[in-house]
Amino acid sequence: MPVLVHASDLHFGKPFSPEAAEAFLEALSSISPDLVVLSGDFTQRAKVREYRQARAFLEGLASWPLVVTPGNHDVPLYRVWERLRAPLGHYRRYISEALDSVTRLEEVTVVALNSTDPYGAIVNGRLTDRQLAWAAARFREAPMGHLRVLVTHHNLMPAPDFGPYQVMPGHTRILEALAGMEVDLVLGGHLHRGWVATSRQVFPGGAALRRIVLAYAGTATSFRGRAAEAGANSFNEVRVTPGQVEITRHLRSRQGGDFRPECTVAFPRLPHGGTVGGGG
Ligand SMILES: [Fe+2]
Repeated sequence: MPVLVHASDLHFGKPFSPEAAEAFLEALSSISPDLVVLSGDFTQRAKVREYRQARAFLEGLASWPLVVTPGNHDVPLYRVWERLRAPLGHYRRYISEALDSVTRLEEVTVVALNSTDPYGAIVNGRLTDRQLAWAAARFREAPMGHLRVLVTHHNLMPAPDFGPYQVMPGHTRILEALAGMEVDLVLGGHLHRGWVATSRQVFPGGAALRRIVLAYAGTATSFRGRAAEAGANSFNEVRVTPGQVEITRHLRSRQGGDFRPECTVAFPRLPHGGTVGGGG
């Protein structure tokens, strides 16, 4: 059954840690996943130099299929003219031409949506109705029994240990839409702190929704870890079996060294086919 490695917030540029990157590559080789998901913030300031370094790093991951999505730091925040004219120009040149994408493994369908909002809520991101409709169509086409995974950089739930913190505008409506698509798992970053919970645990009234597992990865290769992961690095390993989805957070402590498995949480798989409201 498929194994995914989900990492985020590489932040090439000043906060990038070559030691953490080396440890991440070692962990990746030892897990040898079927797919690597990188959920945004490849760079710190969206500079060409940073993008070139990120590109070189991605070349080193060429043995694995890759799913990528941009983050708010991949848009030039301070170079206003560039932000207005071609906000993801460098991203499209160096990381991926496509901004929204669909990837199918044998038993998993992964839809990645670009949640950057260069003209509006830059920090908090956004997903448009058009993107959600596109994702819904891709999930409708997914073969029966496929785990449905959505990747998007910005968080659809708050962090547990710092705030007040903004969540993507319209997150309740978005989660309802994702429940309607029978999405099983959302993978994202932005928080710089690993955090896994379900939509029902986090949102009052969410019991009416189909349960969606929301899994956020910390920063895999930078010094920008926050709260419980201040100065540390993390990524998530996702193991998909017929009965459950297992998520293991791999942590590299602020003292450095290797990534080590920190904790595993498992969620029973829910059936598809009009079972909105199922699961606990
Ligand atoms: Fe970030």
